[in-house]
Amino acid sequence: MATELTWAWEPGEQPAFTPRHATVPRLALERLHRARDHVVLGWFHRYPARFAAEVVTDMLVRVVTEARRPVARVLDPFCGTGSVVAAGRQLGLAAIGLELSTLGVTVGRLRLDPPADPWTAAAACERLAAIPPAVESRVEPELADWLGTANARHLTAIKPALDEIEDERTRRFITVAVSQSLRPSSRWLPGSVKATADPRRDPIPLAHSLVRWARQLARDCETERNALTGVPSEAAIVHGNARKLPLADGGVDAIVTSPPYFITYDYFEIQRLSYLAFGWPMPRRDQIGAKYGHHPLPASVALPEAFRSWYEHEFRAERTFLGRALRAYTQDLRTHLAEAARVVAPGGLVAYSVANSVRAGRVFDLVSGFAELLGEAGFADVHALPRVQAGRRILPPGRDVRSGRFSSDAGRAGVREYIVFGQR
Ligand SMILES: C[S@@+](CC[C@H](N)C(=O)[O-])C[C@H]1O[C@@H](n2cnc3c(N)ncnc32)[C@H](O)[C@@H]1O
Repeated sequence: MATELTWAWEPGEQPAFTPRHATVPRLALERLHRARDHVVLGWFHRYPARFAAEVVTDMLVRVVTEARRPVARVLDPFCGTGSVVAAGRQLGLAAIGLELSTLGVTVGRLRLDPPADPWTAAAACERLAAIPPAVESRVEPELADWLGTANARHLTAIKPALDEIEDERTRRFITVAVSQSLRPSSRWLPGSVKATADPRRDPIPLAHSLVRWARQLARDCETERNALTGVPSEAAIVHGNARKLPLADGGVDAIVTSPPYFITYDYFEIQRLSYLAFGWPMPRRDQIGAKYGHHPLPASVALPEAFRSWYEHEFRAERTFLGRALRAYTQDLRTHLAEAARVVAPGGLVAYSVANSVRAGRVFDLVSGFAELLGEAGFADVHALPRVQAGRRILPPGRDVRSGRFSSDAGRAGVREYIVFGQR
C-alpha cells in the first residue's frame, strides 16, 4: 500500500521562502542592453552562504559600470548554488560558474536548466514520496541513524526509483528535493553547521518533506525561468577546483564571487546527509579554507600583514591545526588569485565578497589580508567597500553565546561584510 501523504499546502498558504527581487539601476541598464530592470532569485536549497539577490545584483552592476572595458563575460569561481550565474544571465551577460561540491553543482545546474515543466517534476517527486517503504533499510548505517528507521526504509525504496527516471532534468530536480529534505527529516540539530544530533528531535516523515520541498523547487524554477523572457541564456556551471581555472588567458571580463572564508563552513560536513545518501565524493583536501588536515608549510610561505599576529599568537603558528590552516588558506588563495589574474582580460574588474569576523573578542581582518593578496597577484586599485546588507546574509551576524551555533540574533559576535575590488 502507498504511504499516505498528510502534509499539503493550505489554501492561500505561501511556500516557505519567497523569491527575492533586486532593482537594476538605470545607469547599469544603459550599458546592459539586454538586461531586465530587476533581478529575481529563487530560494532553491538551504545551501550555506548563498548570495541574496540584492547583493549579487549590486556586485554585478558595479563591475559592469566601473570596469575599464565592456563586460560581457563574467565568472564566479566559487559559485555554490549558481546565484551569480543566474543573476548574470538575467542581466544579459554570458556567465560561467565553477564549484567544487557536487551538491552546489547539482543545485546550480537545476536552476539554469530546470525540467521543461517544473510542476510535472514536482508531481513526479510526489509519486516517489508515495512509494511504500522498503521492508528493511539499505542506506548507510550512519545515515539510517540520522533519519530513523521509518525514513531510512523509505529512502531505501525511493533511491532506485529515482535512479530509473530517464529525464536528466527531472532526476536532478528530485535529487535536490531529496537533498533538501534529509536534514528536516533527520535528528540533525536545526541550524547546526556541524553534524550534531538532537536526541529529542522526532524526524519529520520523509514523504512530507519531499512534497513540501518539491513544490518550493517548482516555484523557484518557474520564477527564474520566467525572469529569462527575451534574454539569451548563455550560462554554464563547471565542476572543478578554483585553483586551476579551465579558461583561456583573458577569457572573462570580470569575476564576481564569494570565496570560502577562513574555517567558517565545511561545505561537505554541513550537507553530510546528502553526501551519504547519494555517495558523492567529498574532496575535503581541495576545499579552500578547511579547518583540519593541513601539513606544515615551508617558512617561505609568507602571510599577509593582517594575518601575522593571529598566526603567531592566537593560533600558535605551525603547532596548532589553526595555524597550519591559516597558512594553507593563504597559499590556496594565492594559487587561485594567480589564476584569476590570468583569466581576467586587461581592464576587467574582480569583486570578492569577504567578511571580517570577531573571534575571541578580536577582529579577524580577513578583508585586509585578502586585499593584500589581491595586490600581490597583480591587481591594481585594490579597495574594499562595505557590502549591501541584505536580509539574507553570507554569514549570520554571529554565534549563539551558549550553544556556539550560528544565530541570526547573537548580537555580540559581529560580522562585517565587504566587497574587495581589484582592477586587471
Ligand atoms: C561562500 S560559498 C559561495 C556561495 C554562492 N555565492 C551562492 O550564492 O550559492 C563558497 C563556495 O566555494 C566552494 N569551494 C570551496 N573550495 C573550492 C575550490 N577549491 N574550488 C571551487 N569551489 C570551492 C564551496 O563548496 C562553496 O560552495
